[in-house]
Amino acid sequence: MRTQVVVVGAGPAGLLLARLLGQRGVDVVVLETRSREYVEARIRAGILEHSTLEVLDGAGLGDVVRRDGAEHRGVYLQWPGERHHLDFVDLVGRSVWLYGQTEVTRQLGLAHDAAGTQIAYEVADVELHDVDGERPSVTYTDRDGVRTRVEAVAVAGCDGSFGPSRPVVADAGGETWERTYDYSWLGILADVAPSTDELIYAWHDDGFALHSMRSASVSRLYLQVPAGTEIGQWSDDRIWDALSTRLGAGIDGWQLTPGPITEKSVLPMRSHVCAPMRRGRLFLAGDAAHIVPPTGAKGLNLAVADVALLAPALADLAAGDPAAGERYSERALRRVWRCTHFSWWMTTMLHRDDDPFTRQLQLSQLQWVTSSRAGAAGLAENYAGLPISL
Ligand code: APR
Ligand code: PHB
Repeated sequence: MRTQVVVVGAGPAGLLLARLLGQRGVDVVVLETRSREYVEARIRAGILEHSTLEVLDGAGLGDVVRRDGAEHRGVYLQWPGERHHLDFVDLVGRSVWLYGQTEVTRQLGLAHDAAGTQIAYEVADVELHDVDGERPSVTYTDRDGVRTRVEAVAVAGCDGSFGPSRPVVADAGGETWERTYDYSWLGILADVAPSTDELIYAWHDDGFALHSMRSASVSRLYLQVPAGTEIGQWSDDRIWDALSTRLGAGIDGWQLTPGPITEKSVLPMRSHVCAPMRRGRLFLAGDAAHIVPPTGAKGLNLAVADVALLAPALADLAAGDPAAGERYSERALRRVWRCTHFSWWMTTMLHRDDDPFTRQLQLSQLQWVTSSRAGAAGLAENYAGLPISL
């Protein structure tokens, strides 16, 4: 089989890239090991930056985000006894949108149905070949057991942190950087109206907590827990008690309303960057190239920014410009490192640290960020979104 671009992975990065390429008239085949139902049910973060919405507008999905999502002007930052609102619109003229990544994936799936994009789900044994030459190919076994080879002009590795693309790039050299954290997030989804209008990021001596949401009747909340925590150690009552305490129940009469928990899981935290994000005709995008801890919700936004840079480069390559794509990795990495720093900074500012000196520094930093316009604007600019191209 022959196509122009093989996209490995049908997460948000792969599906959006395939959409942006399809709109440019580029022939695409998407390969995914999981089922469509599995891919569309995964629960992930839910904040879209301003520039992500612009990219989704270009992909024809902006209207549905505006219709079903909620615009947030900012976030609350708090520590015991104090809660401060940072208004991003006032500070940097940009808002963010609350819209679940699960929905982004579903909407992209619908757009592909309408466009007739070739997406093969439940494939196995995906292997990449000849990425250093001008005719790379990918072999895979489809769900009927048939082994197929797709030849292309380029391959996009959008297969997340455990897919085959990253190791192929790493085999040719390059560098990786990693930071692990000794805590995880315990995340819950609950059928209860959020107890806040905008997200609350809470520093607390017991550990960090975050109050987010998915809709007017569904809340999403997180607790910092030690790395290696088993979900069975946390009963629903224990979770709500800890959330109430850390989120400041009782302060100025504020209360957290508990409700039925419909999903709970423990999410490990790490930062990881690999460079370059390219080897020959293989280009990495999204989690295949970098992982950020979830504080600040940059994972999806970074994946979107990558593919927004990659799509025009691959379209030019497919149109016969052999130099297209030369600058992709360098351009993408500028934003990757900015978001890697921001995610690390938010994480280390807000999570419980056993060192008392560090805790005082965290509180001082929070006080500065919430009282100085310059400090607040720095956080707002990074949170609400930097331009796609830095
Ligand atoms: N062949 C084909 N597909 C594969 C393979 C393979 N060998 N291995 C993995 N995949 C698929 C996974 O099943 C998954 O659906 O690649 C997809 C990668 O999707 P994501 O992990 O969602 O990564 P990405 O699309 O880069 O999205 C980034 O997801 O993890 C969050 O925080 C992250 O929000 C960010 C977003
Ligand atoms: C979420 O809603 O899941 C979410 C929001 C903000 C974050 C992380 C996760 O920083």
